[in-house]
Amino acid sequence: MLASAAAAAAVPPASTSYSPVKPSGSRGWRTSRSRRAARVEAGYSQLEVRKVTYRPPGTEHNLLNEINLSLREKSFGLIFGRSGSGKTTLLQLLAGLSEPTSGSICIQKYDDSGNLNGKSEMLTSQRVGIVFQFPERYFLADTVLEEVTFGWPRQKADLLFKEQLALNIQNAFNSVGLKTISLDEDPQSLSGGFKRRLALAIQLVQTPDLLLLDEPLAGLDWKARADVVNLLKDLKKHHTILVVSHDLRELYPQVDRSWRMQMGGSLKEETLPV
Ligand SMILES: Nc1ncnc2c1ncn2[C@@H]1O[C@H](COP(=O)(O)OP(=O)(O)OP(=O)(O)O)[C@@H](O)[C@H]1O
Ligand SMILES: [Mg+2]
Repeated sequence: MLASAAAAAAVPPASTSYSPVKPSGSRGWRTSRSRRAARVEAGYSQLEVRKVTYRPPGTEHNLLNEINLSLREKSFGLIFGRSGSGKTTLLQLLAGLSEPTSGSICIQKYDDSGNLNGKSEMLTSQRVGIVFQFPERYFLADTVLEEVTFGWPRQKADLLFKEQLALNIQNAFNSVGLKTISLDEDPQSLSGGFKRRLALAIQLVQTPDLLLLDEPLAGLDWKARADVVNLLKDLKKHHTILVVSHDLRELYPQVDRSWRMQMGGSLKEETLPV
């Protein structure tokens, strides 16, 4: 796998965007300080959404109203609520696809006693991976390898950079249990569960700090659903995960914190009604 990925990295497909690869293997959220320091610091970090309001440009109504949410690194958060309440809109803000009208989205470090440790850092889109609802509908390439490397730099990147990307592919494929499939396979020929694995792997190649998943079980048969739930259980060991879902019962065992999005776009922390 690594050899073929590295070979492909030397001649990647046409690119439409450039995303800098991030160092892999670090622990938890990476702040600028922790990137500079080789040693592992004590304490923990968490995602903090502070009084976020969102009104789409040119409209008169807020879709989200003063949203507050915090999620500690390597934990699993779940947002549920009625259709049209604003769940996907919130994920889009967290992924940097649109900007809050007011409020902030940041990473805050704490020491072991729970005291603030330094200033908060803004959450940038490079640190977030998002898997949309029905991600397989957006697969474009003819092979798994092209799908994963879509958007990689075509000429300018040096060999070291491409080797790092190839290593990231191997790590991502291992972590989603895709190491047995051929990189030449047509993504559309994969089973439903494996397509979701591939969609997750595409995000994990960029080693995001935060993984956002919109309805990860939607449209899957019972076997694939169980498969994806098990995968999320594994991913939680190393990643911070925030999921939007209506499938509360199946995800319940993984959930550390949960919130209900109420109609009109206000978020309330609430245990799952299961
Ligand atoms: N750009 C926009 N301008 C105006 N209204 C929008 C815009 N984008 C979404 N909406 C509206 O915002 C509301 C929230 O939509 P959103 O997709 O976030 O809901 P949701 O909770 O994810 O619903 P579902 O469970 O059906 O996926 C909906 O009423 C939607 O029509
Ligand atoms: Mg939605």
